[in-house]
Amino acid sequence: MDNLQFNRHRRLRQNSTIRDMVRETHLQIEDLIYPIFIADGEQIKREVPSMPGVFQLSMDNLRAEMEEVTALGIKSVILFGVPHEHDKDEHGSGAFSHNGLVQQATRAVKKDFPDVVVVADTCLCEYTSHGHCGIVEGGKILNDPTLDLLAKTAVSQVEAGADIIAPSNMMDGFVAAIRKGLDEAGYEDIPIMSYGVKYSSAFYGPFRDAANSTPQFGDRKTYQMDSANRLEALREAESDVLEGADFMIVKPALAYMDIIRDVKNNFNLPVVAYNVSGEYAMVKAAAQNGWIDEQKIVMEMHTGFKRAGADLIITYFAKDIASWLKG
Ligand code: PBG
Repeated sequence: MDNLQFNRHRRLRQNSTIRDMVRETHLQIEDLIYPIFIADGEQIKREVPSMPGVFQLSMDNLRAEMEEVTALGIKSVILFGVPHEHDKDEHGSGAFSHNGLVQQATRAVKKDFPDVVVVADTCLCEYTSHGHCGIVEGGKILNDPTLDLLAKTAVSQVEAGADIIAPSNMMDGFVAAIRKGLDEAGYEDIPIMSYGVKYSSAFYGPFRDAANSTPQFGDRKTYQMDSANRLEALREAESDVLEGADFMIVKPALAYMDIIRDVKNNFNLPVVAYNVSGEYAMVKAAAQNGWIDEQKIVMEMHTGFKRAGADLIITYFAKDIASWLKG
């Protein structure tokens, strides 16, 4: 051993107190945003088959859900609407209707739980008959005509009480258009959490079951990004920052940890990781088979998102994580 030089890294791992003292990343309840699906109708509590533990809820079941969420200490939710098929149309007008599902749910949450931060998902795909995130003409998804509808949707969500607008449509210029629409309506204080770094991904499959938003023709590849690309993510993020985004979402999360880090290193705004439906489904399925330790895996994944650079995490595991952090 005499002339053998090496460092003893194990010194700082020798017991749990020392390990706690030198831990670099901490997952906290404040980091979590919990997604909720609002179904049209009454007395609906329908579990999404590919997402055990995630439900489509009608308005009359929302209060009980919010009581559970707030009792766990979760401070923020993101709302998605699940309208009836027969209420969908070419322009997704349910997205910007005064009595739209997200608008109604937002009003209900803000009335009974005023301190909860309500994030509104601003997209058309749940409300369009063709399932795309923009106006369609001759099989094409039109960019500029869609922008007005997105701004209208954002304004109507804020009128209902939404605290943060989260546009997920990936049209070019959507942050600028929404910022302008909000400002003109007097909502210059409402932040935009842009889903500007959104990849075209098979990991959204279970969400499309949950939200009935599968495109009726083609796919989303002309507006969502190619999963092979990294510089493209930086270009997208740069545009959104210039257009006035206040937060940047990177989505999905697990297969895109490098992108989370890139966005964190290149831009000075809070980064949000979205741990999407397919990632949730994979963990749940393996856990139900007894193949993995769900709690350990979920905590490791979410701590990993934070280590990669995420400040916040949108996650279907929020309730589980909150109860584990408490316990
Ligand atoms: C709407 C939207 C989607 C997700 C969030 N907002 C679906 C999509 O783009 O197809 C996916 C979320 C998830 O998979 O958990 N555009």
